[in-house]
Amino acid sequence: MSDDTLLQSTLSALAEIFRAEAVTFQRPEAEATADALATTPLSLTPQPPCADDAAIRALLLASKHPAAHLLLAAQHLLPWDTNPVSDAVPEALRVFTVTTLMGPEGPMHWDVFRCGLYYQRPGTYYPLHDHDADETYVILAGDTLWTAGDDTRPRSVGEMIHHPSHMPHAFGTDGGLLALWRWSGDINLTSYRFLPDATLSLA
Ligand SMILES: [Fe+2]
Repeated sequence: MSDDTLLQSTLSALAEIFRAEAVTFQRPEAEATADALATTPLSLTPQPPCADDAAIRALLLASKHPAAHLLLAAQHLLPWDTNPVSDAVPEALRVFTVTTLMGPEGPMHWDVFRCGLYYQRPGTYYPLHDHDADETYVILAGDTLWTAGDDTRPRSVGEMIHHPSHMPHAFGTDGGLLALWRWSGDINLTSYRFLPDATLSLA
């Protein structure tokens, strides 16, 4: 399979995840993101392995998610370390890395959506934060204790978690975490902020 064919198959598999979100939760913005993922031309060249490459591959290999095998095959094409908020919150770089697939900065240029992949390193905690955008995460691999508003509980592979605009959220992981994410609504980066977090004061 050529890299372009592999990439298209992978994007189609990710689009199907957002189509399921649209049907299950009646979210037309998830359907629109799926359409954009499946139809926007994208060609990625092989990337040098990111620092987390081996750990990401190990998580995908162990995952039972239907998209995991395609993501594993396409790992050499994924542009990790392309987090649009990394300049604003450099401390976050110690905890996670991001592949950006879609957004105003590209590589799929859309001014109204952002989406990509999220990898959080083992034994880390991404503290409480919020932003203007509406957000959905889908767990693809690994483990996590997830806070969404007042709801803190373990989440497993396949689960979808939705954060309406300005719902505080935070994630911990013991063995590492890989997730798919998307933003819609007001997708500005400037509203992204960390919040007072009682978990940190207990640490
Ligand atoms: Fe978020």
